[in-house]
Amino acid sequence: MSVSQVSVPAGSRLILGIESSCDETGVALVASVPGAVPQLLAHALHSQIDMHQAYGGVVPELASRDHIRRVVPLTRQVMAQAGCRLPDIDAIAYTKGPGLAGALLVGAGVACALGTALSKPLLGVHHLEGHLLSPFLSADPPEFPFVALLVSGGHTQLMRVDGVGRYTLLGETVDDAAGEAFDKSAKLMGLPYPGGPHLSRMAESGRADAFDLPRPMLHSGDQDFSFAGLKTAVRTHLLRAGLLDQPQALAAPERAGWLADLAASTQTAIVDVLVKKSLGALKVTGLKRLVVAGGVGANRQLRAELNEACARRRIRVHYPELHLCTDNGAMIALAGA
Ligand code: KG4
Ligand code: ZN
Repeated sequence: MSVSQVSVPAGSRLILGIESSCDETGVALVASVPGAVPQLLAHALHSQIDMHQAYGGVVPELASRDHIRRVVPLTRQVMAQAGCRLPDIDAIAYTKGPGLAGALLVGAGVACALGTALSKPLLGVHHLEGHLLSPFLSADPPEFPFVALLVSGGHTQLMRVDGVGRYTLLGETVDDAAGEAFDKSAKLMGLPYPGGPHLSRMAESGRADAFDLPRPMLHSGDQDFSFAGLKTAVRTHLLRAGLLDQPQALAAPERAGWLADLAASTQTAIVDVLVKKSLGALKVTGLKRLVVAGGVGANRQLRAELNEACARRRIRVHYPELHLCTDNGAMIALAGA
């Protein structure tokens, strides 16, 4: 769903959402309309990626300090964009976890201050519940029940979802998350943080069958995942090629084709596991609807392969809008609503 320019729907309640769990400060205002899907009125986001890139990953202390700088101006921006004033807000939702402690504290602190000043209730939202519900802000919102594939930088889970708050965990990663597998493999290949989108771009010109990489737990018969071995296999290929911890050699133009092949093979290994396990969860539950959420849900190959596999089985797949796949305030406001 696009951000509406329209006025606030009659009889609705306004929920402000604040996300600050990691490296994105997100603020949004959602109108909760009785009997209807909540409506996103305005949202604003500041990504810290540029700031952390120099360090090859998120520096928690820098993240917290940047959230402090951004959260109030972003809140003002959202209120102005929606044409609303702070006293119009009916409740304040914020990410209560999981995430970086200092970063979470910033959002929680601002939410508590606003709630106290405005005498409005606070709603602590689980970050993954925000991701899980984010497809409800799309043009094609899902209906309950469905299987959810949650694939973020820190989590990989398959869930049966029967309604808001009615979640049954079907399986999850026993070690690295899918996003972590993308990011760690990308880092080994000399790509900037966060590696997922960079690796994905490089994979476009590579051959997916160039390297035989492991697909751990593919045939384990359950809905659990394991991605740590994949990163180790990528490391081994780089070591054998004399490219491990060799940034200059990795950046050499004559290596580009080899690296693109490794990237394509890595992405395909991750996508294969995610698709197979999602199909397994759909089979076990007998459900005909899949919802994909979290940053890795933006991956084009994952979307293409899930779409194809599900179309063959008459299963509907729903995604959040691309800009709402990664962390944002809209999903937190929505979960609050
Ligand atoms: O959900 P998210 O924004 O933050 C967490 O809650 O962790 O997910 C971030 C993760 C990172 O690992 C990032 O590399 C990955 O999502 N990601 C992607 C893509 N876009 C983001 N991974 C693969 N392909 C993408 N296009
Ligand atoms: Zn997230």
